[in-house]
Amino acid sequence: MINRRQFLHITGTGAVGFLTGGLSSLLNVPSIGAEVNTANEFIPDLDIFLTATPAEIPLFPGSPTSVWSFQGQVLKGNKTSLVSLERSYLGPIIRVNRGQKVRIRFTNDIPDETIVHWHGLHVPAVMDGHPRFVIPQGETYIYEFEVRNRAGTYWYHPHPHGRTGPQVYGGLAGFFLVSDDEEKAVGLPSGEYDIPLVIQDRAFDNDNQLVYTSGHMMEQMTGFLGNLILVNGNPDFILPVTTRAYRLRLLNGSNSRIYKLAWQDGRPLTVIGTDGGLLEKPVHRSYVMLGVGERIELWADFRRYPVGTETALVSLPFDAGMMGGRGMGRGMMGGGMMGYGRVLPNGSGFPIFRIRVNRQEKETVSLPEKLSTIERYKPEDTVNLGYPRTFHLLMRHMAWTINGRIFQMEEVANDERVRMDTLEMWEFINEGGGMGMMGMMNMPHPIHLHGKQFQVLERSGVTHTGYVDEGWKDTVLLMPGERIKLLVRFEDYPGLFLYHCHNLEHEDMGMMRNYFINN
Ligand code: C2O
Ligand code: CU
Ligand code: CU
Repeated sequence: MINRRQFLHITGTGAVGFLTGGLSSLLNVPSIGAEVNTANEFIPDLDIFLTATPAEIPLFPGSPTSVWSFQGQVLKGNKTSLVSLERSYLGPIIRVNRGQKVRIRFTNDIPDETIVHWHGLHVPAVMDGHPRFVIPQGETYIYEFEVRNRAGTYWYHPHPHGRTGPQVYGGLAGFFLVSDDEEKAVGLPSGEYDIPLVIQDRAFDNDNQLVYTSGHMMEQMTGFLGNLILVNGNPDFILPVTTRAYRLRLLNGSNSRIYKLAWQDGRPLTVIGTDGGLLEKPVHRSYVMLGVGERIELWADFRRYPVGTETALVSLPFDAGMMGGRGMGRGMMGGGMMGYGRVLPNGSGFPIFRIRVNRQEKETVSLPEKLSTIERYKPEDTVNLGYPRTFHLLMRHMAWTINGRIFQMEEVANDERVRMDTLEMWEFINEGGGMGMMGMMNMPHPIHLHGKQFQVLERSGVTHTGYVDEGWKDTVLLMPGERIKLLVRFEDYPGLFLYHCHNLEHEDMGMMRNYFINN
């Protein structure tokens, strides 16, 4: 396998030195692009710079907030492929079409090792941002891949082992939106009526600076929870709308918080898409549970709302389990655990963002009955029918594990090896985390597989509601007591990929493993 990092040590130094000379000077010298091309014979449709860099954002009156932020620049291709969010630490929205070849020259300018992962994208192992590919400050990693995913709402974020939580928290995340012909033919609201929204929780000190965990063990066990909800990096987000339909793409970009999404006025949510793109047809839910890393697309129709109406998307209260925080306030870990008196337990109810209907408009789009075609995997086509690979989400020696194991950079156990071009049944089981200092530890775990979109076959155990399992998924939430069977096909790209809990503090403590696709 190509060692991407070594490759860059040899050929990338020129590019890195060059970056300090500025973008315009770089554009005058085609030799760098040519150099990469001869090495790979890869001709990109879109060639961009992406840099992780320290920045200061005016979030509140007074001192600006120090963050880490992705910044991008189009070197070749459509300039509208990168859309920056105003006054936000979030990275540019990367917009591509299926079939496009993309080169991303990622430079690490933060004083920490890092690497970027394209969450939900089906790319070769060396392009996936596995933590073994981390680069130090000052180095560049060049990604080149063809966009093979169907249209959908994907995203990107850092993936260094043990440091993903603090780096995402610091501001490193962005949307990666894919479009295709099938989606375009549906005629969904587009342009300013197609709105990507990242939901995150943060905590700030009196000087407007981000506060991450104290590093307290119990805080690692639960995951970081902030007391302030930010949408697109904005602490007081209001969505101005007109009296028509919108496509809202929601991403839970939090470290560990789970949202029970609902409209404030009790109308059902109309869901049109999940992690891997559009559903076959719209579904309705009175609420939707959105675990960390998951996406949901809503059809939000404000046609019948008088101008002047204020409403909101809210998170309803729910029971997040023994360690979710609710039980905790009464226990020995309450009070001082979070410090700063900023506790907003997982499962609390609160508004996420407000919506203001500010203008009359003639509605021109209506909800399509058919959104896409999804070929259903059949359990009888799996190579392990009746014998799903089982993954128990367990607490062992005061650490979250998968089957009792924690992450080792290159390690793959025998039961983590799969064969290329096979369909498998995987079962994740969240039936009690084992004994901890507070008794049984039981928590929600959002489980994510790299490089794949899979299908949910069934849930069992202590079943919960509010899931949208109908579409393509790359991350699934397991509430305490729940089990889930997935159908996953391994194809195209062999090698080492990750699967893990997307609670970033769990992931950082090693609730992550490799699986290996044998060619
Ligand atoms: Cu959002 Cu390992 O991924
Ligand atoms: Cu991922
Ligand atoms: Cu977890």
